[in-house]
Formats: sequence, structure tokens, C-alpha cells
Amino acid sequence: MAESYNIEFIIQPGSSLGGSMMVPGDKSISHRTVMLGSIADGQTRVSGLLEGEDVIATVSAMRAMGVDIDGPANGEMTIAGVGMHGLSAPPAPLDFGNSGTAMRLMCGLLAAQSFASELSGDESLLARPMERVARPLREMGANIETSAGKPPILIQPASDGLLASVHHLEVASAQVKSALLLAGLYARGETRVIEPAITRDHTERMLRAFGIQVHGGEDWASVSGDQKLIGTDVEVPGDLSSASFFLVGAAISPDTELTISDVGVNPTRTGIIRILEAMGATIDESNPRDIAGEPVADLTVHGAQLTGIDIPPSWVPLAIDEFPAVCIAAAAASGTTVIRGAAELRVKESDRIAAMTAGLRNLNIHVDEFDDGIAVTGGMMSGGQIDSFGDHRIAMAFAIAGIIASDTIRIANCRNVATSFPGFAQIAADAGLDIEERINAGD
Ligand code: S3P
Repeated sequence: MAESYNIEFIIQPGSSLGGSMMVPGDKSISHRTVMLGSIADGQTRVSGLLEGEDVIATVSAMRAMGVDIDGPANGEMTIAGVGMHGLSAPPAPLDFGNSGTAMRLMCGLLAAQSFASELSGDESLLARPMERVARPLREMGANIETSAGKPPILIQPASDGLLASVHHLEVASAQVKSALLLAGLYARGETRVIEPAITRDHTERMLRAFGIQVHGGEDWASVSGDQKLIGTDVEVPGDLSSASFFLVGAAISPDTELTISDVGVNPTRTGIIRILEAMGATIDESNPRDIAGEPVADLTVHGAQLTGIDIPPSWVPLAIDEFPAVCIAAAAASGTTVIRGAAELRVKESDRIAAMTAGLRNLNIHVDEFDDGIAVTGGMMSGGQIDSFGDHRIAMAFAIAGIIASDTIRIANCRNVATSFPGFAQIAADAGLDIEERINAGD
């Protein structure tokens, strides 16, 4: 059945979200756990791992390079780390499916290996820019070739090994920063990455949890080569990006209260909370705790009449994956919400500015599209037919829009929801959304 089916979501009007729920493990932290556990000395035991297709692609790549990984099952996994220099040549090209995170971070790791590798992926991944990671790696001596800037990527061993350097990133990208820090673990000297804006710092936090010395400030981080990772236990918190659909869904549900427990609230990820609060929602954080260096809390959101805002550009990287959901909050709000400085949205799993513009217009919502963003004016949302363009977050955002639509919303091409949020439709239905998941053969 591998390539011969697709999934359609059908959402009926009139539902609202409420009660209590949990979401699957954090995707960014799950990828990093698999990678760092694989190159650590000793065992890493993981709980709460996201068993989405993206993370499974990272697990498969590590297995193909000789790492013994038990699981995952029910979020639990044990990795027998092979040490920094214990990976072996993969017998075939590594297929990262839909996952930009897996491919870009692995470029950093593979550029430092003594064997060649080829990195490929699905149609969406083959269209995504990769020079942003290849170029700075070359400055460190890496032998890495993209195909006209995109995958497939061919990596050969660096003839003189890697040499540390100082990188001033042009794009605010945690993926690029992380790739360079991973390469830096193998480089002679100190590799320093300076960002144009603050991005998620999961790599820095997790490297420390594996015993690596990481220096850093608000917008920079550095590591020196000649250190080693020690296997550790990792408890992966719920993914705030997955929770966002429900934060928005509850915020736009009248007279409701929804609690999502055990969610990661790393301040480099909480732009969505700031945005919803600025729009008038109330979100309470309770039971705050720290797990393996990551802050975690339970979030309770109360439905409210939201008001449109101009989103400050400095918040954009802190909510970069949440803009499809933010657009739905904006459609439910009074007034206009403006997102600018977000050109990166054009090179995600789909062109998210174009996908949200097309979908919202189909639902009779007024949208102005810019090169670097979108302005959404709240209004009466109709039902309609939506294409997710194979993008998991576009599909889930429009599913949540069903709460405020006056008629049925049908969303085509939802199979990739399984890349980040397996079980989404069932979890959404349990939280109150009137959603049907239909499997269609042959497209
Ligand atoms: C991620 C970083 C972000 C984000 C992606 C996950 C990560 O990408 O969009 O979903 O885990 O480092 P960029 O670094 O390209 O902004």
C-alpha cells in the first residue's frame, strides 16, 4: 500500500475543543536524541520519542551506518552508541523522506566521517535549499556537493579533516546552526556560529546533556573538537508545534478550556504562546519542570474573542513552524494580523505563504500575500475544498479551521501528517473536533 493511497480529512462545522490531552514527542528533540545517542559512548535510553516518519528516517539512517537501535515502541528506544568514530559506510543512499531537519543536521555529521555518503529524500525535500548548510561546511574543509543547490547531496571524506571556523549565518536557522555544531565536534579548534536572530537551542542543550562543553550567548554558540559524548537517558517532552494546533483550536472555541500536559516550553520555541496572548487568549502554564535541560509545563488555554496584531519580526523564528496555525487564529480574530519577515515560510515542506493564501481564499477569508509574509483579515469562514500540498502543518491547520467554518471543509493530500503527528485525527476527535479521516486509494 506504500505509494498507492492518500488521506483526506473531512471536518464538519459546529465543534469545539475542550478537556485535557497530550501530544506526541517533540520532533526536533527526537531527531537530536537519535543522532547524539548514536555517536555517544555507551547506551542512551529514550522515552516519549516521536514515532513520526521524519524521526524514523533518522533512525533508519543510523541503523544503515551500523548503530544498533532497539525500538522505538510506545516511544521507548535504546541506542547502543558507537562513539564519535564508530559509524560505518551506509550500503545505499540515505533516504530522509520529508525531513529537512534530518537531512541538514546529518550533513554536519556526515561531512566529518571517513566514508562517502549520499543523502536523498521525497519530492518536497528534493526541492528544498541545501547550500545554506553545504557552503559553511565547505569553509570547514568539507567535501560536499549539492545538485544545483538542492538534494541529492554527495559527501566525500574531507581530505584534510575538518577545521573549525567562525560562521555568521545569513538565515536564522537552527538546522544550519546545528549542522555546524555537529561538524564542529570533529573539527580542529573552536567552531562558533553567530545567528542573525535567536533560533531554537535544542542542540546546545542536548549536547550539554551528553557531556559536551558548549559555550554561548543569546545569539551564538560554540563547540570545540576533541570531546566525546557520553550516553544518557532522555525523556522527550510533548511537541509545542503539535500542541499549537490545539492551542489555536481552543483559543478560537467559544467558552472552552483545554489543558495539554507535558509540553516543551523552551523559550526559543514559545513564539506561539506570545502571539496568542497578544491576540487576547489566556494561556496558563502550570506544573513547570525541567527534564534533561528542557523546560516542560502543562498548558491551559481559554477560548476568547481574538484581535488581530502585527507580529514583531523578532518573534518569527520563535514560531516559525506555527504560522499555518497562526493564520487560522487570524481568520477567527477581529481585524487584521500581519506576518512579515517570514520569507523562510516559502521554503518549508511547501511554500506555506502560498498554501495558506490559496486555502484561506477558498474559505472566503481576505488575505494579502507578500514575498515575506501574509496579512489575514478575520471574517466569516465558509466551508470548502483545501489542498495541503502534501504539507503536514497546512493539513492540520485547516483541520482546526473546521471549528470556525460555516460548512464542511475537505482537505486533500494529508498523508504527510504522519511525518510529525501520527494519530492526529483521532487525538483531534478525542479533543472535540468533528473530523473524519478517509483513506483514498490510487493517488
Ligand atoms: C528545526 C528548525 C526549523 C524548523 C524545523 C525544525 C530544527 O527549521 O522549521 O521544523 O529541529 O532545528 P530552520 O532551522 O530551517 O528554520
